Amino acid sequence: MKQNECIAVIDFGGQYNQLIARRIRNLNVYSVVISHDISVEQLKKMNLKGIIFTGGPNSVYLKNSPTISKDIFELNIPILGICYGCQLIAHLLNGKVSTAKVSEYGNTTLIPYQSKLLKGIKTKTNVFMSHTDYVSKLPTGFKLIAKTKDCPIAAFENIKKNIYTVQFHPEVQHTVKGQNIFKNFVFDICHCQGNWQMKSFINSQVKELRNKIGNKKVLLALSGGVDSSVCAVLLSKAIKRNLICVLVDHGLMRYNEINEIKNTFKKYKSLNLKIVDASKTFYSALKGISDPEQKRKIIGHQFIEVFAKEAKKLGKIDFLAQGTIYPDVIESGLGKSATIKSHHNVGGLPKNLKFSGLIEPLRNLFKDEVRKLGMELGLNKSEVYRQPFPGPGLGVRIIGEVTPEKVKIVQLADYILRDEIIKAKLKFNPNQYFIALSNMCSVGVMGDGRTYEYAAIIRAVSTDDFMTAKICELPYSLLSKITTRIINEVKGINRVLYDLTSKPPGTIELE
Ligand code: XMP
Repeated sequence: MKQNECIAVIDFGGQYNQLIARRIRNLNVYSVVISHDISVEQLKKMNLKGIIFTGGPNSVYLKNSPTISKDIFELNIPILGICYGCQLIAHLLNGKVSTAKVSEYGNTTLIPYQSKLLKGIKTKTNVFMSHTDYVSKLPTGFKLIAKTKDCPIAAFENIKKNIYTVQFHPEVQHTVKGQNIFKNFVFDICHCQGNWQMKSFINSQVKELRNKIGNKKVLLALSGGVDSSVCAVLLSKAIKRNLICVLVDHGLMRYNEINEIKNTFKKYKSLNLKIVDASKTFYSALKGISDPEQKRKIIGHQFIEVFAKEAKKLGKIDFLAQGTIYPDVIESGLGKSATIKSHHNVGGLPKNLKFSGLIEPLRNLFKDEVRKLGMELGLNKSEVYRQPFPGPGLGVRIIGEVTPEKVKIVQLADYILRDEIIKAKLKFNPNQYFIALSNMCSVGVMGDGRTYEYAAIIRAVSTDDFMTAKICELPYSLLSKITTRIINEVKGINRVLYDLTSKPPGTIELE
């Protein structure tokens, strides 16, 4: 990806800011989210093709609301203001912003007029609004380019000054022509070429990594998850055998998962994959523990111990690599220097491990871009699109004490569930699905004999963000097939239940 074309998204605190950058990147133009407290001088140095002001929850006319220096309008870089950004432009350029009696929220019909920003949008179209304040007087020199029933100034532009605004949210899917608007801004107004592509990203990253790392050694804690896997393959392409990957097998992985990871990485000959079987250590530390939080802490702590021990055995390592991705960077605070994130899987890295630097080659990519990159690097589709798996593994899917026997039971049952769901080729695949093992034993009858065994629980949810989740309605026939197979094939389970709890009030994991 050529980085000489960049559109900066200036963050004023809105909920959809990441989405704006994603929409721009979907047009093959690189885009970054930047805090509003960046100076105009700094922006000038970035050689930007365009600037977007985001939405935000504040009122522009209040004293402590986020703002930006008016000098930004003198940079001669095209600017697009969205929602709060639109109001801020009006406010800074002597228009007027007022509070409406009633908020305009949700889908609204936009009536467009002929304009540069809304080129190609000739008839009424649906847009998504979310505001109480509105621009009640246009700033001087600006032309009204759209209105809605409740918002007389829904978009305005000044072609001469290269400033464009929309009160609605073009980044949200409900805004039917949203991508058209971004296209007009990015190509017609900012004159971008659209050459941000994965192939060139790989080439430029490989070059950059080689320059930074030279002949030094890099250590990566590989979990088998998408981010750390893609990070490993990219690094191995750049520095060959100077990369050492450590995969800690805590004995809480899914059925055959360690072998699958091994096979995935076989084709990357230069990858020094070191698999450390620490399952016994983990099991003995977890003996007798049934409190979920305590289990998590023990697993995290053990992980650090094992990882640190292995790292020390490897001698001097200069860099630590992490699969940090862009949402992690944004969530950990824009504009602040990035600290090593307390990795879910590593649970905070050991302080006594000294590295002279941190390597995070994916820190500018969104998850879908990491997936694209993984495919481009030759990883299997099944690896790249795998569902999330928590760092503490099956430890948080076994209710009560974790024992090697229970792990075997849940591994097998979970394998059957996954196998059947894949075979069923559902129209809507759940985003996350697994078997958890309850701590409840009950009486059953199999053949002529009495059984007294565990109940397994099917969990299958639909979610975009994994922060909230809905139950995925698996077909009854499929549930029945899964149940029969689990009871017939897994010794230790004589009953299968289906968890119907959404998140909230539940969580996705069942611990
Ligand atoms: P919950 O259970 O909190 O899970 O609704 C939300 C998402 O996060 C995953 N998860 C984890 N991922 N380490 C991880 O890497 C963890 O400790 C962890 N706990 C939960 C979970 O699988 C779901 O996708």
